[in-house]
Amino acid sequence: MAAPPAVAVAGLTLTSAPPDGGRVLLRNAAMTAAAGESVAVTGPSGSGKSTLLACLAGLHRPTAGTVLVYGTEPAGLRPARAAAWRLGTVGLVHQSGELLPELSALENAALPLLIAGRGRREAYGTARRLLRELGAEAVADSPADALSGGERQRVALARALSTRPPLLLADEPTGALDERATDEVCALLFGLPAQYGCALVVVTHDPAVAHRAHRRLALRDGGLHETPGRP
Ligand SMILES: Nc1ncnc2c1ncn2[C@@H]1O[C@H](COP(=O)(O)OP(=O)(O)OP(=O)(O)O)[C@@H](O)[C@H]1O
Ligand SMILES: [Mg+2]
Repeated sequence: MAAPPAVAVAGLTLTSAPPDGGRVLLRNAAMTAAAGESVAVTGPSGSGKSTLLACLAGLHRPTAGTVLVYGTEPAGLRPARAAAWRLGTVGLVHQSGELLPELSALENAALPLLIAGRGRREAYGTARRLLRELGAEAVADSPADALSGGERQRVALARALSTRPPLLLADEPTGALDERATDEVCALLFGLPAQYGCALVVVTHDPAVAHRAHRRLALRDGGLHETPGRP
């Protein structure tokens, strides 16, 4: 039997919860992503891009439709099982690079490996290597709340990559970076699917970033629409 795709979303509809209940955030959205493939999602502010990533990470239960990640429906897992599944399967880079402010950049990047029970030497070694590859080694020992927006994004990316998740979700990973840092981060990010076979879903407002992905989807009126590549 063929392996299930990394992401298979069908008929995904999500309505907001009370007290704001009844607003349709996603409407009959569909997408797939294969292992080894990168997909960019674009769309105006407020169109539901971050909400879509949260659905892929199993953080929202769909009102209708299905989200399958490597054949597993995260919304169907019990909370403790869902947390373990997420730790082993999904690397999520939040839009604002949410880090634990009192920990250093290095400690933040090593955290998922420590939670997963790996040794300190391996966890900190991996975290330091990733920070170096992402151009953030100089701030490894700085507390996270002293980092710039761009540094925070790179540390958040290192943290998401630390466990080599088979599904990597990145929400505006270059939103706070200048052109040169964007190029460096993109070279690493878009190389990952070929390098270790993960699927990558990137939300971005930057057409140059979107064009580095294998496929592009536009989020409009709650639905996903395939858009052509560079002419
Ligand atoms: N937990 C929630 N409950 C109710 N509404 C929400 C919730 N989270 C987001 N929304 C609403 O859903 C819509 C989509 O939000 P989302 O954050 O997914 O947009 P986005 O496309 O990521 O925007 P941006 O480009 O500004 O990051 C917005 O109108 C937002 O106010
Ligand atoms: Mg967003």
